[in-house]
Amino acid sequence: MSQQGSRFGEPPVKGGSLRRQTIYCLKPRLHRSDEDSTLVPNLLHAGATTQLGRFCVSPTGGKMKLIIIGANGTVGSAISNELGARHELIRVGKASGDIQLDISDSAQIRALFARTGKVDGVVVAAGSVHFAPLNEIEEQHFHIGLNSKLMGQVNVAQIAQAYLHDGGSITLTSGIVGEVPIRSGVSAAMVNGALEGFVRGAAIELPRGLRINVVSPGLLEASVAALGSFFPGFEAVSAKRVGLAYAKSVEGAQTGQVYTVR
Ligand SMILES: NC(=O)c1ccc[n+]([C@@H]2O[C@H](COP(=O)([O-])OP(=O)(O)OC[C@H]3O[C@@H](n4cnc5c(N)ncnc54)[C@H](OP(=O)(O)O)[C@@H]3O)[C@@H](O)[C@H]2O)c1
Repeated sequence: MSQQGSRFGEPPVKGGSLRRQTIYCLKPRLHRSDEDSTLVPNLLHAGATTQLGRFCVSPTGGKMKLIIIGANGTVGSAISNELGARHELIRVGKASGDIQLDISDSAQIRALFARTGKVDGVVVAAGSVHFAPLNEIEEQHFHIGLNSKLMGQVNVAQIAQAYLHDGGSITLTSGIVGEVPIRSGVSAAMVNGALEGFVRGAAIELPRGLRINVVSPGLLEASVAALGSFFPGFEAVSAKRVGLAYAKSVEGAQTGQVYTVR
C-alpha cells in the first residue's frame, strides 16, 4: 500500500472510481453501517485497484512496497514468486539480495529500515535453529534459535512498526515443528511456539491498523532432499501453497493469525 499518490493511494487503474474510493476511505467506520453494504459492492464492482489505508477494503490490486528478509531462501523464493508479480520487493538476505543483514543484530535491522524508508509490509523468512537430540542439546544451542529465529523476527517486528504505513503488515515465519514434533526438533518447537505466541500478543496492541501474522509452513517439497529424513511420513507442501499463505497475510485483512500450510 505505497502511499505516494493521494493520501489513501493512487487512483484506481481499471475504470474504478476514485471518488467512491476516497469517500469510503475517509469514513473509516462507514463499513459498519447499513450504508456501507451499498458502498462495498460499488467499490468492488467498479474494479477499483486500490492502495488504501487501514479501514478500507483492498482487493489485491494495489502495488505495495514490501521488504522480504530471506528472499533468496527456499521459503523466501516461494514468497517472492507469489508477491513479486504484483508488488515492489526489496529482497534482503544474509549475503544475497538487494540489502544484506544479520537479523540477530538489531542495529543492522535499524540500519535496514533507515535505508528503505517507509514500506507497506515486512515479511521474514529467515532465522536459524539448532537441531539436536534432547539429551545432547545444551544451553548455548538453544541460544542460536532464541537469538536468530525468535528474537531476530521479534526485533524486526518491533523496529518495523515505525516504518510501516498505516494499515501495513508484518509477517513472520514459524514452522510445522512447533505443532508436530520431530526428533531433534526441540529447539525449533520452542522457538516456533514462542513466535506464534508473540504474534497473538502483539496483534491486539499494534497501533494505526498495523497487522501481524505468522506463517507456519510444512516441509517444503524443495527441502525434502535435504531435510526429509527428519520428517518421516510427512507430506511435503508446494512452494505455491506456501507463497499463497504469505499473500493472505500481506494482502488480506486479518491479524494475529497463524496460517498453517500442511
Ligand atoms: N524449508 C522448509 O521446508 C521450512 C519449513 C518450515 C519452516 N521453515 C522456516 O523458514 C525459515 C527459512 O527457511 P529456508 O528453508 O527458506 O532457509 P534457507 O533456504 O536457508 O534460506 C534462508 C534465507 O534467509 C537468509 N538468512 C539466513 N540467516 C540469516 C540471518 N541471520 N539474517 C538475515 N537473513 C538470513 C538467507 O540469506 P542468503 O540468501 O544470503 O543465504 C536466505 O535468503 C527458517 O526459519 C525455517 O525454520 C522452513
